[in-house]
Amino acid sequence: MVVVGGGVAGLATALALAPTPVRLLCLSHDGSGSASALAQGGIAAALGPADSPAGHARDTLIAGARHNDTAMVHWLCGQAPATIDWLRAQGVAFDRDEQGQLQLGREGGHRAARIVHAGGDASGAALVRALRQRVQQATHVQWRGGVAVDALLQRGGAVCGVRVRDAGGHPQEMPAAAVVLATGGIGALFARTSNPAGADGNGLALGMAAGASPRDLEFVQFHPTALDIAGAHCLPLVTEALRGAGARLLDADGRALMAGVHPLGDLAPRDIVARRVWQSGRDHAPVWLDARELELDWGRSFPTVLGACLAHGIDPRHQLIPVTPAAHFHMGGLAVDVDGRTGIPGLHAVGEVACNGVHGANRLASNSLLEGVSCGRRLGAMLAAMPPPATAGAFHWAERGQAMAPERLPALRELLWQSAGPVRSEARLRRAAQTCSDWQCEGWQARLGLALLMAASARGQSLGAHHCNASAG
Ligand code: SIN
Repeated sequence: MVVVGGGVAGLATALALAPTPVRLLCLSHDGSGSASALAQGGIAAALGPADSPAGHARDTLIAGARHNDTAMVHWLCGQAPATIDWLRAQGVAFDRDEQGQLQLGREGGHRAARIVHAGGDASGAALVRALRQRVQQATHVQWRGGVAVDALLQRGGAVCGVRVRDAGGHPQEMPAAAVVLATGGIGALFARTSNPAGADGNGLALGMAAGASPRDLEFVQFHPTALDIAGAHCLPLVTEALRGAGARLLDADGRALMAGVHPLGDLAPRDIVARRVWQSGRDHAPVWLDARELELDWGRSFPTVLGACLAHGIDPRHQLIPVTPAAHFHMGGLAVDVDGRTGIPGLHAVGEVACNGVHGANRLASNSLLEGVSCGRRLGAMLAAMPPPATAGAFHWAERGQAMAPERLPALRELLWQSAGPVRSEARLRRAAQTCSDWQCEGWQARLGLALLMAASARGQSLGAHHCNASAG
């Protein structure tokens, strides 16, 4: 068995495969390059006395514009408390209040306090650290870092192995009873992203090359508040929880940016805030987050935000934080069923690269680590109990094809940012699709961009994170 990806979905899948031997392949040597490790929000679970899985499910469906797979939503929210218990058993120390009770926070779109954090705004890193430690102790998992998968081996249509390349480009073939893609999202295809550089859709493109179908590619979530660093591509996030703690968005003249835009003001749904911040950017006006007056234990609650700001010469305790929207999460991906099956025998997908419909057209905050861990455990257990698919016939390699030249990638990212960003228009999508079509032969990233643009054009009317505005030109 091979699992590709060292974020929480890949780690949870590999652990749940026990005792089936599994190779866990990862781009970075220490597993640090995943979007999971950067996640600042926590994990949503109905744990409070006045809360219920039905309430969590309702909020998930409302955020998702009811484009969600309802059964999947009820399953995910129903077992969320058990996922928290399992994570605690794996060694994750969730934050507690003075009485020793789990601290339950609130984020945009949640009508109850139901977000648990670990290490304040460093929840993703805490989860990855704990699960990776378990993986290192597990005798059935062989970790291999510093490698990229660039082709899937198929026999008679079924996937039965991978080809990896190390940093020097040396290829190695690895046969496998089945392959799980847990490679993350596509944020790095956009000019501004909160994702790591490796989140460029490589797993999605690989799955599509093997014949797996994409679903809902047009639904990309943009986070309203990444740290605005001029000229940078991958930006540190400034968590929504900071606005939950009272930080305010200000326009260039120091006025409340969200006043009169939405009754929930700074905690309006993420897509609405992102569009407001985006519009200011298009008018060349800076947007600031003001956390100066807050009485916060920064080191305990927001160590990641504090560290990122200080690293860029901004002290958020005394200075305004410049913010920008950034591509954050892909609701679309490889179409999978409830057990992560892509429809191609031997090929499975889990986490952000997969689309099982649970997030609908717009993901509810703090449901992504939950999905990665829960679906990873479900998929691993299913694969451990299942005989490998029978394969017969000729072998062939399903390859993404050549990658675009690195110096051409900024142009593609800018094209997608301008045309398929927080505010889209049919005319811009059409023009961008034509440009991307001209670039197709340059590499797989342009073909993936084209697929996204075509899906967005076909969607037409606004839904969830896909916001189309005819007057946007
Ligand atoms: C955040 O911390 O603002 C992001 C949380 C999430 O994306 O779920």
